[in-house]
Amino acid sequence: MSWAVQDYREYLEEILIPEEQLQQRIAELAAEISRDYEGKLPLLICILRGGVMFLTDLIRYLTIPHEIDFMAIESYGKGRREPGEVRLTMDLHTSIRGRHVILVEDIIDTGNTVAQVLEMLRVRHPKSLKVCALLDKAERREVPVPIHYRGFEIPNKFVFGYGLDMDGYWRNLPFIAVPDLNRYRPPKPLPQEDED
Ligand code: IMP
Ligand code: MG
Repeated sequence: MSWAVQDYREYLEEILIPEEQLQQRIAELAAEISRDYEGKLPLLICILRGGVMFLTDLIRYLTIPHEIDFMAIESYGKGRREPGEVRLTMDLHTSIRGRHVILVEDIIDTGNTVAQVLEMLRVRHPKSLKVCALLDKAERREVPVPIHYRGFEIPNKFVFGYGLDMDGYWRNLPFIAVPDLNRYRPPKPLPQEDED
């Protein structure tokens, strides 16, 4: 099946955080983490899929030995952009018992997702558990969550790029952007062709 995907430039309202600013802040966060976790071999856990770009850039700036692992969750109970309860769809490969764990997230909005993931991780008895979030939509918070390492506080606007998607697309953009949703057309399937 082929899909018609609209070019993001047609609905780009503004670039909220340009690439240089993102990279500079991520390097600062990594320097802080490198200082705080000297000698501690932290395990960085990335929640798929939005956090992937952030994790991979963040660890390139780390100067201490560390490990990474991934987990995937699915929100259900409400619409896709209004997460309710979350369910684990892919578990970690590593045991976190006795480990210094850093949960790496793309964005904290209502706080629901991270609060529930932290609960899931806490019962596995890590030695310590901290949160590193690139973006914080603080105004939207419903559930309080501790953010130990925060990239940027952003206004209450939907954003995409740098791991965050528009219906699955444009995660590859090196900046954080705001779409004009009035100009946005969700991807739709193209009529089937006979040959590939
Ligand atoms: P929360 O549970 O409300 O904190 O939402 C967290 C999740 O919602 C994030 O991990 C994202 O997957 C998604 N999310 C929230 N705001 C945005 C946004 O502006 N753009 C893309 N995804 C978002
Ligand atoms: Mg996410």
